Amino acid sequence: MSTNSIDSLLHETRRFPPTPEFAANAVAGAELYESAKADPVGFWADQARELLHWHKPFTSVLDWSDAPFAKWFADGELNVTYNCLDRHVLAGNGERIAIHWEGEPGDSRSISYAELTEQVKRAANVMAGLGIGQGDRVAVYMPVIPEAVVAMLAIARLGAVHSVVFGGFSSESLRSRIDDASAKLVVTADGGWRKGKVFPLKAAVDGALANGTSTVKNVLVVRRGENEVQWTEGRDLWWHDELAAADAEHEAQAFEAENPLFILYTSGTTGKPKGILHSSGGYLTQVASTHKNVFDLHPETDVYWCTADVGWITGHSYVVYGPLANGATQLMYEGTPDTPHSGRWWELIEKYKVSIFYTAPTAIRSFMKLGRQIPQSFDLSSLRLLGSVGEPINPEAWIWYRDAIGGGSTPIVDTWWQTETGAIMISALPGITALKPGSAQVPIPGIKIDILGEDGTRVDPPNGGLLVVSEPWPAMLRGIWGDPDRYRETYWSRFSGPDSEGKETWKYFAGDGAHVDSDGDIVLLGRVDDVMNISGHRLSTQEIESALVSHPMVAEAAVVGAADEATGQAVVAFVILRADQEAAQTVEEASTLLRAHVAQQIGAIARPRQVFVVAELPKTRSGKIMRRLLQDVAEGRELGDTTTLTDASVMTIISDRLK
Ligand code: WT7
Repeated sequence: MSTNSIDSLLHETRRFPPTPEFAANAVAGAELYESAKADPVGFWADQARELLHWHKPFTSVLDWSDAPFAKWFADGELNVTYNCLDRHVLAGNGERIAIHWEGEPGDSRSISYAELTEQVKRAANVMAGLGIGQGDRVAVYMPVIPEAVVAMLAIARLGAVHSVVFGGFSSESLRSRIDDASAKLVVTADGGWRKGKVFPLKAAVDGALANGTSTVKNVLVVRRGENEVQWTEGRDLWWHDELAAADAEHEAQAFEAENPLFILYTSGTTGKPKGILHSSGGYLTQVASTHKNVFDLHPETDVYWCTADVGWITGHSYVVYGPLANGATQLMYEGTPDTPHSGRWWELIEKYKVSIFYTAPTAIRSFMKLGRQIPQSFDLSSLRLLGSVGEPINPEAWIWYRDAIGGGSTPIVDTWWQTETGAIMISALPGITALKPGSAQVPIPGIKIDILGEDGTRVDPPNGGLLVVSEPWPAMLRGIWGDPDRYRETYWSRFSGPDSEGKETWKYFAGDGAHVDSDGDIVLLGRVDDVMNISGHRLSTQEIESALVSHPMVAEAAVVGAADEATGQAVVAFVILRADQEAAQTVEEASTLLRAHVAQQIGAIARPRQVFVVAELPKTRSGKIMRRLLQDVAEGRELGDTTTLTDASVMTIISDRLK
């Protein structure tokens, strides 16, 4: 558990209350907290009725009788896509821009709600024609282009289930996700633009389907990169041909609120990523509600930009479902922040007059390193609210973000949540809360958070403990795809059970450490398990260890997340080479090769910053690798307690070697 955030907090004691103007115009008022406190479940029912269109209204709000499997709004029926598109057109807002999209090479498109609706209707007809219907799984492996959104909404419209796989993941990672969910269809693109080059996506799909045993019947290919692709007749179809030939009308059918909406894979503590399952009505309610209230959305006037890739949960909830359910106008950008120059993001904010901007601390820190002159040379005066997500934002970065990007006056909402929570859980509301740098602060209305000690009792401030969600919430995961036991075990086994009065209680264990400060604000302290947070993305140490030992050169591997100024944490690996391999190459060659191997196995985000070749790994007498000690050396600290090691000299040798 890192204590960096507490240390730096000690040096930043300023509070930032909303300006009177901001507070007066804010969409969320203090009455939200009051009504949610009086009746949290009723509060969510009100949000669901107010923010969504129900084909069939619900009478049941929360059914927790089969805990920890929740049902929200179970007898209600809705169509998620109808809520994100058709109803805005029917309400007379068809001309409003849904997406301003900017490609990395500088091409751009602005797409209205009416146009987006038509595209989605055509895509839904195409997919239905390919046999996709309610409950079928469709994999989406795309760059950040509007067609990714069209594909997701077309799948949702049919009551089918999307599984979006981040375009930076390897062919191998894609294959395992396609297989785990038995997807019938893959939607991809020929390529996408990144750092001035086209990266091939279709080739990775071909690789993932190469063994011929896949459940995939068709591959729909969007033309984006104009790069050459291999074609499998009978299986592969061009998106533009199919959409052009399809009917432009499609009537959205209603599905039960608990109809599955998507699966999104995320790393856990074991080697195999888990398919987090989300369903429709509760999820859409909470993402719409939080998108409106946390980001103070005024859909008629705001231009919103969330920089996340659609392949992550942030892209699902706060690029696709939240903003579109709320009828927002948003910017989507395909490429990297520094292409073709390091002012690209600020140039886009100026060009589109972005007013709400949501990004990750790792990006802010990398801009901070480049200096304020770059953002200063653009007009960022349209910005009125900033958001942060993915990892704790250190107060220094918070202040820089507010000053250099926000002109010294914009509120910053630090939002804590997870793939599993589906939507924001802890955040200030910008028109109400006095902001405190370095703290996500308070649960949003309707959410109950506690910090518990190892023994399950509540810890008193300022002691640290483990963060739990104490009541079910609408956007909560509904399970792990195909593995109900792992779902119970991972999230619900640690603190659930009878309370002092013998009443069964359920507490969701998030895997994060946290403490409550003397004002009652929550400060997040990082993961307490073997999950690393690299640039706001989750990777498990075991997943990377498995990738390393899959290389014939490696006998054993241990991976740790070491503190890194730019990326929060960085992957550092320690490997023992097989005896017959040791002489084959230099330590440097082996290290380079293995770094590339991990990138090829999992994806570039998993590429270790360093791979150290060692003769032995520190183990306890029972054979468990002492990652904590390796983390000490990787972070350049003095060695901690080595008394439980079988051979303490191992650590001295490793740490001497690193010095
Ligand atoms: C983990 C979830 C949810 C979107 C992106 C990541 C960390 C996330 C914060 C924050 C401190 C944060 C936690 C969490 N995290 N936001 N504002 N402050 N930590 O989603 O990949 O599911 O990762 O990210 O450790 O458990 P994810």
